[in-house]
Amino acid sequence: MKLLLDKAHIEGIRYYDVWKKNGGYQSVEKALKMSPEEIVEEVKKSGLRGRGGAGFPTGLKWSFIAKPEGVPRHLVCNADESEPGTFKDRYLMEFLPHLFIEGMIISSYALGSNTSYIYIRGEYSWIPDILEQAIAEAKAAGYLGKNILGSGFDCEIYVHRGAGAYICGEETALIESLEGKRGNPRIKPPFPAVQGAWMRPTVVNNVETIATVSPIIMLGGEEYGKIGVGKSTGTKLISACGNINKPGVYEIPFDLSVEDFIYGDEWCGGIPKGKKLKACIPGGSSVPILPANLLLKTAKGETRLMNYESLSDGGFQTGTMLGSGGFIVLDEDQCVVKHTYTLARFYRHESCGQCSPCREGTGWMEKILYKIEKGQGKLSDIDLLWDIQRRIEGNTICPLGDAAAWPVAAAIRHFRDEFEWHVLNPEESQVRNYGIAHYADPLEVVA
Ligand SMILES: Cc1cc2nc3c(=O)[nH]c(=O)nc-3n(C[C@H](O)[C@H](O)[C@H](O)COP(=O)(O)O)c2cc1C
Ligand code: SF4
Repeated sequence: MKLLLDKAHIEGIRYYDVWKKNGGYQSVEKALKMSPEEIVEEVKKSGLRGRGGAGFPTGLKWSFIAKPEGVPRHLVCNADESEPGTFKDRYLMEFLPHLFIEGMIISSYALGSNTSYIYIRGEYSWIPDILEQAIAEAKAAGYLGKNILGSGFDCEIYVHRGAGAYICGEETALIESLEGKRGNPRIKPPFPAVQGAWMRPTVVNNVETIATVSPIIMLGGEEYGKIGVGKSTGTKLISACGNINKPGVYEIPFDLSVEDFIYGDEWCGGIPKGKKLKACIPGGSSVPILPANLLLKTAKGETRLMNYESLSDGGFQTGTMLGSGGFIVLDEDQCVVKHTYTLARFYRHESCGQCSPCREGTGWMEKILYKIEKGQGKLSDIDLLWDIQRRIEGNTICPLGDAAAWPVAAAIRHFRDEFEWHVLNPEESQVRNYGIAHYADPLEVVA
């Protein structure tokens, strides 16, 4: 069942006329006849969980927004999408902008936001034009601006271009950047729902979360909540990449098995050249990597499904997370140490530098991983690496520190023998090339 991408195949669906002809803006018309509280209630009933990564219940988040007398409130959509392996929001904004704008209007109405923002990553340089055109079309048709459809509700949506920093996807850093400052995360509390953009009550939601509000209104929260498995309700967009035959964006049902998703013709279509599956990172680069045996079956021997509960079954010892749905597949030829190094390099580069465990720890992890991968490490370096990641996790202002620590911890936990191989086979280690892009020597860079 497709709830988000059902119209994606229609030619010209990006444009207002085609969108409207195919049932567009009915959800806005329906929503504006309801009260804002009723909409929040429908979203609560739907069981929708935020699609930005943490999976926090959206209706509950909306109910936290403070309503001080005379103070404006804001909806800010997080379209930063910088998590490596994640590109599903891009698909929604590029091909179904009116679905997303419908969600923005309804969510703004539910939250009482008369001025809402879409904060989009700088690298998506062509998408703001698409969104601004959709906003202009919606406004010309009376779905934005003053007194929308005679409801008395006024709303403007502005697109704000980021400059290209992963940390600006963290909601408080995003708010700082939106305010025109350097994107440094804030210490919480106060949470954005109380003091967010310009210290006003603010809700930050992911693009897919907001786009999903439109089908929820059309179906009704209760009906939407019946789709899916347990607390994983509705459907989910997955961006699949790596060693698979058919990379792309898929809308999956939550009862789909990981095995069917990787090998099914309807989905990723298997691994090129019939190679064996080595491992996978199912929820974007920050979530723990799982080796094939634990990916396809849980530690209890149950079939692993593509949903929040099943992927996290076993905790971080033997499980992982659905995260942002950035599904990265590694075949038997890939080197986990090199892969982990590449990620560590990314997190070191993206750390904002405010807290020392993250600022220093990410740099140390990068250097040690580089040494090990190049065959210049010692066995004690593996324990040192383990120790460093432990000291980062949970000791920082924002979760970027955790995001940097988890991939390293999971790689050592599940592939320690591969780390040891690099230490014990220095010569072979130096000549092995798995075709991953050339990278600079961090020791030279630092020197
Ligand atoms: C370093 C970092 C980067 C993040 N990047 C994104 C992002 O690109 N998009 C996103 O929606 N959420 C991102 N998040 C999560 C947001 O802070 C926030 O939880 C999310 O936008 C809330 O939306 P949701 O409730 O709809 O999931 C990031 C978090 C961290 C710590
Ligand atoms: S954890 Fe890292 S990115 Fe987050 S505030 Fe601290 S230094 Fe900055």
